[in-house]
Amino acid sequence: MLYTPTPDTLYHPPPHHIDPLGYSRVAIITGCSSGIGLATTQLFLAHQFQVVGLDVSPFNYNLLRVEDHGRFHFHQGDLTQPGQIEEGVRIANHFGGQVDVLVNVAGILDNFASADAVTDSDWDRVISINLTVPVKMMRAVIPFLKQRPEGGVIINVASTAGKSGAVAGVAYTASKHGLIGATKNVAWRFRNEGIRANAVLPGAVDSSVGNRIAEEKGGGGVDLEGYKAVEPVHALQTKAIEVVPGITALEVARTILFLVSDQARTINGVELPIDRAWGVV
Ligand SMILES: NC(=O)c1ccc[n+]([C@@H]2O[C@H](COP(=O)([O-])OP(=O)(O)OC[C@H]3O[C@@H](n4cnc5c(N)ncnc54)[C@H](O)[C@@H]3O)[C@@H](O)[C@H]2O)c1
Repeated sequence: MLYTPTPDTLYHPPPHHIDPLGYSRVAIITGCSSGIGLATTQLFLAHQFQVVGLDVSPFNYNLLRVEDHGRFHFHQGDLTQPGQIEEGVRIANHFGGQVDVLVNVAGILDNFASADAVTDSDWDRVISINLTVPVKMMRAVIPFLKQRPEGGVIINVASTAGKSGAVAGVAYTASKHGLIGATKNVAWRFRNEGIRANAVLPGAVDSSVGNRIAEEKGGGGVDLEGYKAVEPVHALQTKAIEVVPGITALEVARTILFLVSDQARTINGVELPIDRAWGVV
């Protein structure tokens, strides 16, 4: 059963309790070192998953409970580089038996430039990390997910920008639209082979990507014209946060955990907003 902890506390199962949600299941989580990926890693470990975390940034083990260390393996590497994805999957199969769950979280924001101003290097980097890597991760795990007796699960972290053209630059928007399309394709293709694939679409989350939007508007490498075009739509979400709390990385992680759980066994190919209705605009 999916346990619902009080806000911002993790699940603390009683000693010697076996949590059927995660016990003996292996999850790969990309982008585990920070934000949504970190919260997902912490929550999955609290539910007794074995987790292989992949990230280009170092991982701070102090952010894990000591009792969870033995079920966590971190591999540091840039997933856009040749061989890194295969190495991550190889570790997961070696570490835990065989991979059951893939959560594609790693991603980067763009600088809000539209098609008139996006540079080749920004386009290539954003598409590579946000779209090509998740698709290649799915390609690498699908043969193993098919073999899982209880079925394999893929969760792709897209964004409100995967539905809307009015919240980010052209590269980020295209990458997240593409990721939703890839999710649906995999959901349909493998629906009778024991694999579910779903996308979550967080709105503005209190994490690195979300904070960069808040902090860097008008500064750094932000495309000012592009930012001005999306700012009114962001303001709708900002105003909402003044009334109700913003969305936390842990709240996104809880939704991911739900989609991985057996309670979501009929949910396949959805694009699920986590945005307090921001995405309906
Ligand atoms: N924060 C938000 O407001 C928000 C909203 C919607 C969607 N998202 C999406 O959620 C995901 C996570 O966002 P976040 O706010 O937690 O970001 P974050 O920056 O806190 O975490 C992203 C992680 O991905 C890692 N990463 C980046 N490039 C990588 C690469 N090439 N190889 C391996 N790891 C790499 C980073 O090192 C980082 O640890 C992203 O896909 C983002 O697009 C975020």
